[in-house]
Amino acid sequence: MSFDEDIFFEENSTPLEIASDYAFQDKSSVFLFSNENVAGTMQILENIGGANVLSVAASGDSVFDAYLAGAKNVDTFDINSFQKLVMELKMHMIKHIDYYDFLSFFFSNSNFFEQDIIAPIKGKFSQPLKHFITKYKIHGRDLFKYRAAHHPDFNPFFNLNYLKTEQNYYKLRGILPDKINFKHCDLVNVSEKFNQRYDIILLSNIFDYMFNEHFSPQTRMQRMYYEILVPLARKNLSKDNGRICFQYLWEGNSPAWTSFLDFFERTQKDNEAHTFATRSVNSAYGYNRRDVILIMRQNQKIK
Ligand SMILES: C[S@@+](CC[C@H](N)C(=O)[O-])C[C@H]1O[C@@H](n2cnc3c(N)ncnc32)[C@H](O)[C@@H]1O
Repeated sequence: MSFDEDIFFEENSTPLEIASDYAFQDKSSVFLFSNENVAGTMQILENIGGANVLSVAASGDSVFDAYLAGAKNVDTFDINSFQKLVMELKMHMIKHIDYYDFLSFFFSNSNFFEQDIIAPIKGKFSQPLKHFITKYKIHGRDLFKYRAAHHPDFNPFFNLNYLKTEQNYYKLRGILPDKINFKHCDLVNVSEKFNQRYDIILLSNIFDYMFNEHFSPQTRMQRMYYEILVPLARKNLSKDNGRICFQYLWEGNSPAWTSFLDFFERTQKDNEAHTFATRSVNSAYGYNRRDVILIMRQNQKIK
């Protein structure tokens, strides 16, 4: 689904060239919440305290959990500019709306997107966010990737630290900045658009949707590495122990990926600076299973 009214373009924004063969498009239906075990991701990353983080925006959940884990700054990007608005809405709500009203607004059937809950803070919303909320009145839940992202077994209180307890929610309120830096761009252009170096880069499962014209995982991984990860690491990843979480796999086969990445590490041309690891977390959907996160680490002696 795509909502193509141009009222969503911000002033001074330049037209974007977004490839049309991606599953994800600009101004298409949004993720309201992550469908990953974000809390588990923060746990395996450890040492987030003081980190400079770059993340795909999506629902903003990794941004919120990274700040709660002590990140000093989190910058974001997304191919779908509507995700910026979801993040903005949640940010204002975390800052100004009580925990149980936040839960009621997003998780109860009777109060879902209940305008009375956000009425006191609407004055803080950007114009595009106000339009987005108007869109909800027209398109209803079709505006959200509801079925995809909200598996009945997904438990936000288990997967998201900032919602796990009231205390965490109010702790985040005290930490969260008033503005989250967002650039509307495709992952392939991120290294051109951002100029800082980051300790941690979070790419969710975008890799699932890239280079799908190749059947072979080896070829897809080669292209992901040389076309996305290497340029990103060279310009934007901390030279000393910078990490890119470049794929989230639901109930992924950890040993298979470990041996695949070991093989990839041995056979790639440019392997002196980068190492790969697989880390597993409790599955976002429970069932006593494990999800797997693929990580590239950089210890680079480049000038
Ligand atoms: C891959 S999706 C899947 C949802 C994700 N598992 C989560 O927990 O939010 C995450 C985000 O990536 C964005 N995205 C997908 N492909 C992209 C690309 N090529 N460049 C930038 N963002 C992309 C989508 O718009 C979406 O907001």
